[in-house]
Amino acid sequence: MQDTNEKHSGSSRDISSLPIGVFDSGVGGLTVAREIANKLPHESISYFGDTLRCPYGPRPLTEVRTFARQISAWLTEQRIKLLVIGCNSATAAGLETVQRELDVPVIGVIEPGARAAVKATAARRVGVIGTVATIDSGAYTKAIRSLDAGITVFSSATPRFVEMVEEGLRLDHNPFEDIMAQASAIYIRPAFQEIARDYLNPLKRCQIDTLVLGCTHFPLLTPLISSIIGSEIGIISSAEETARDVAETLARRGQAAPDNSNPIYRFATTASDLGEFSALGSMVFGRPIKDAQRVSIEQLEKALQDKEN
Ligand code: DGL
Repeated sequence: MQDTNEKHSGSSRDISSLPIGVFDSGVGGLTVAREIANKLPHESISYFGDTLRCPYGPRPLTEVRTFARQISAWLTEQRIKLLVIGCNSATAAGLETVQRELDVPVIGVIEPGARAAVKATAARRVGVIGTVATIDSGAYTKAIRSLDAGITVFSSATPRFVEMVEEGLRLDHNPFEDIMAQASAIYIRPAFQEIARDYLNPLKRCQIDTLVLGCTHFPLLTPLISSIIGSEIGIISSAEETARDVAETLARRGQAAPDNSNPIYRFATTASDLGEFSALGSMVFGRPIKDAQRVSIEQLEKALQDKEN
């Protein structure tokens, strides 16, 4: 990612050609990167997946906050014009801290998801599912109720859904296949349906009309979730709304990539198996991932130390 850096000296035209940084604990945030790439086809993206330390969900928020600060420091060292925290757990743990620390705008996935849910609910009864870190933080309830205090929010941690998504990706043997198009075939199977029923039936009984997928892994489970919870319940993934926020922020700052620019997608990860990261990531991103760069935890720690000094 270094070469992108050197080309830019800081004028607003130079800034507009810098990439958008996106990170997650692994490949889940590629559901967000994919929406950004679809909505903003001229924008370059530098994606970071912290696969070695995935999952973030069961970890204490203070630890996840440190990871978010390290990755943000590393990505800004490579030069980015805007950062998207493409992980709900990291958004819940570190959005405000990272916003205070960086010179570029930082967008999380919780506020956009909350906004989409508030727009969608007629009954004003919203369900939220996510990792333990996200649900225990209360960030969704706070974000939804700050927009409409009359909405009742029912939240539930569904940690096994993250494992299921990862397991399903490994079941698919065609590495460049688009997983979104195959999600019904891959995830609607008896063992997964049983877990989904246990998690979702209590929420269904709460008479929600809208369910927020509060984890960037979960859009892959949309067909499975919908088959259990019922097609009348609206399912919200924050990816689309987040991509809209990115577009608006860049337009407002006059930093959108020129219409004639070809996007460059770069990938970096802490994963020990770069081949597996690229194969699974390609399925989620919907485009082949080549030449992913390996970054060690020591490099991430150093990036944060350098930023602090
Ligand atoms: N993709 C992460 C999120 O949105 C969840 C996966 C994890 O637990 O690391 O919260």
